[in-house]
Amino acid sequence: MFDYRIKDMQHWQHSSYEPYLPVTEKSNPITRDIDKASPKEIVEMLQKCDAEIFERTSHGNPMYQTLNSSSVVQTIVDVSKRVEVILKDPEDSLIVLSGCGTSGRVAFLLATSLNRWLASQHQKQIYSYIIAGGDKALLTSQETPEDDPLLGALTLGKVCVGKKHVLFIGISCGLSAPFVAGQLDFCLRNLEIFTPVLIGFNPVDMARTEPIQTCSFHFKEVAERMNEMQKQAKGLRAQSSSREAISGSSRMKGGSATKIILETILLAGHEAAYSKKAVTFNGILYSLNMFEKVHQITYSQTKELAALVQKAAISLRKKGHVYYLGWQTLGIIGIIDASECIPTFGAGFEDIRGFVRSGFSEMNNKEGDLSSLGPHFIIDHKDFVDTILPNLSDNDTVIFLYSENDDLNEVSVLAKNVRQRTSNLHAIAHELKGLSDPERMRSHFMTVLTIKWPSSLYKHSPVLMKQYWELSTKWCLNVISTGAHVLIGKVYMNYMIDLRVTNSKLYRRAIHILQRFTGSTQAQCETALLRAIYDVEELSDEMSSTDVTQHTLVANKRGSVVPIALVMLQSRRTIAEAKSYLDAYSVIRDAVAACQRLL
Ligand code: F6P
Repeated sequence: MFDYRIKDMQHWQHSSYEPYLPVTEKSNPITRDIDKASPKEIVEMLQKCDAEIFERTSHGNPMYQTLNSSSVVQTIVDVSKRVEVILKDPEDSLIVLSGCGTSGRVAFLLATSLNRWLASQHQKQIYSYIIAGGDKALLTSQETPEDDPLLGALTLGKVCVGKKHVLFIGISCGLSAPFVAGQLDFCLRNLEIFTPVLIGFNPVDMARTEPIQTCSFHFKEVAERMNEMQKQAKGLRAQSSSREAISGSSRMKGGSATKIILETILLAGHEAAYSKKAVTFNGILYSLNMFEKVHQITYSQTKELAALVQKAAISLRKKGHVYYLGWQTLGIIGIIDASECIPTFGAGFEDIRGFVRSGFSEMNNKEGDLSSLGPHFIIDHKDFVDTILPNLSDNDTVIFLYSENDDLNEVSVLAKNVRQRTSNLHAIAHELKGLSDPERMRSHFMTVLTIKWPSSLYKHSPVLMKQYWELSTKWCLNVISTGAHVLIGKVYMNYMIDLRVTNSKLYRRAIHILQRFTGSTQAQCETALLRAIYDVEELSDEMSSTDVTQHTLVANKRGSVVPIALVMLQSRRTIAEAKSYLDAYSVIRDAVAACQRLL
C-alpha cells in the first residue's frame, strides 16, 4: 500500500487522528488553513501535498506502504510482466481499465492514448476503458452508477465477450466504489479468463464495509479476497493511502497517483514487449523517480502558478469565467479539470470550462460525438469561437494549453482572435528544444508559464513525454481551479463543503463534514441534511424511512444542501433563514460566523 505520511505533525499523523475515517477521507494538516491562505501559500501547500505521493518513508507504520516500497514496486513489476505477455500475444486478449469519476477519466485517457500509439505502430489495439455512467461521465459527474455493482459487472462482461485473457485493472482510490467491487467480484469468479488488479489508496482494513444493495459482499470483503489471490500469485493488487489536499477530493492526488502508477505499469510492459527491455525492479523505481522530477519541474513555477490562481479567482469573483483552450490531450485534461469543479465546489457549469481542438475526434471516446446531449458536451475550439468568443470580456480568464509539438500558427491565430476581446489571456506551454521565435509567441499572451523539459527525462520517447506533459498540466490546472475556488470561499478549512450529495459515499461524507464542524450527533446531522435535501422544516415518515439511494436522487436536483444543513445546525435557524444567509455571503465561513453572531 502506498502511503503519503505527514512529517512534523505528530498529532495529525497519528493513526488515532480521525480514526473512524479511511486515510483517503482524512483531512490533510498541510492544508488545514488553506481557506485563509494567499495564492502563493495555496500553491506551496498543494505542492507539498503532491510531493507526499513520492515520500519514501512509511514512518514505521507497517500498515502503510509508500509508492517506492519494495512490495508496491514488486507488484508493479508483476503487473507490467502480465501486460508484456498480453502485448506479445494479443489475440483474444484485452486490458481493461475501469473506475468511477476521475478514476474512470484516467482510465479513459490511458486506454485511448495507448490504443492510438499501438495503431500507429500497426499493432492490435488491446486496451478498453470503462467509466461508471458511460462516456457522459467523462465530461459531467454521473455519480449514481458508482453505487451499482451489478452494472459494473455487466458492463465488464459485455466489453470482454469472446476474450480468453483479460487483465482487468479496477481503480477505486478510496477502496470504496461498489461499481468496481462488482467488477472485481466478477473477475474473481472467472479466474480462468481474468487477472484482476486493484489500484487504491487505503490499506485493505480501511476499505469500505457499508453493505452494498443487492449484494452479499462489500468492498472490504472483495479486497480481502484479492489479498488471498495475491498470496497465490493470481490476483495482483497495488494500493496506497493518501490524505487529499481538499479532504476526500480524490480528483487531485488520487487521480495523479493513479496516472503515475498506471503509466509506469503499462509503459514498462510496452518497452518489454516491443523494445526487448526486460521489466526490472530497478527500472520501475527509476520510472517512479522520473515522475517525481516532473513534480519538481512543474512546481518550480510557484510564482507564475500563483498569478494564474489569482487571475482565475478574480474572474470568478466578478462573475466572469475561466476558459481552458487546449491542444491534443492537454485540452482533454483541461475539460476534465473544469468539469470536476461542479461536484467538488458546487460551481456553476459556466464558471470554468474546457475546450479541445477537434472536440470529440480528439477525444476518440467509445460513444463518439456527444455534443447533441447539451451544452455540457460542447467542447470543440470551434464551439468556443462561435458561442463564447463574441461575449468574452476582461472579466474572463483564458488559458491556452499547448506544447511545442502543436501547430503554433494555429495557436497564434486563435490567440489573436481572443486578444481582440480580452487581454486577460495566458498560456501554459511545454517546450523541449525551445521555440524558433519565442518572442513572437509570447507577444500574444499576458503571461506564459513555460515548462522546459530536459531531454534526459524522457529519453526521446514521445509517449513518455506526452504522459509527463499531461500530468504536469493536470497539476497546474488542479492548482488553478482549486486555488481559485478556495480564494472565493468555496472551501471551509480544507473541506469541500458544497459537495453534491449524489451517491452513498458522498452522503456519508456529507454527514461526517457536518459532524466535524458542528459537534452534533450523527443522527442530528443526518436529519439536518435530509431537511436540506427535501427542503422541508419537518421530515415526513416517508422521507425518514426511505433509503439512501432515494435521498441522493432528490439531492441531485438541489444545490448547497451541506452548507444549508451546516448553517441550520450551527444557528438553529429555519431552512429559509439559512438560505438567505448563504445568499448574502459568498464565503461559507462568513455565513456561518454571521448567523452565530446573531444567536
Ligand atoms: O463519488 C464521486 C467521486 O468521489 C469522484 O469525485 C471520484 O473521482 C470518484 O468518486 C471515484 O472515487 P474512487 O476512485 O475512490 O472510487
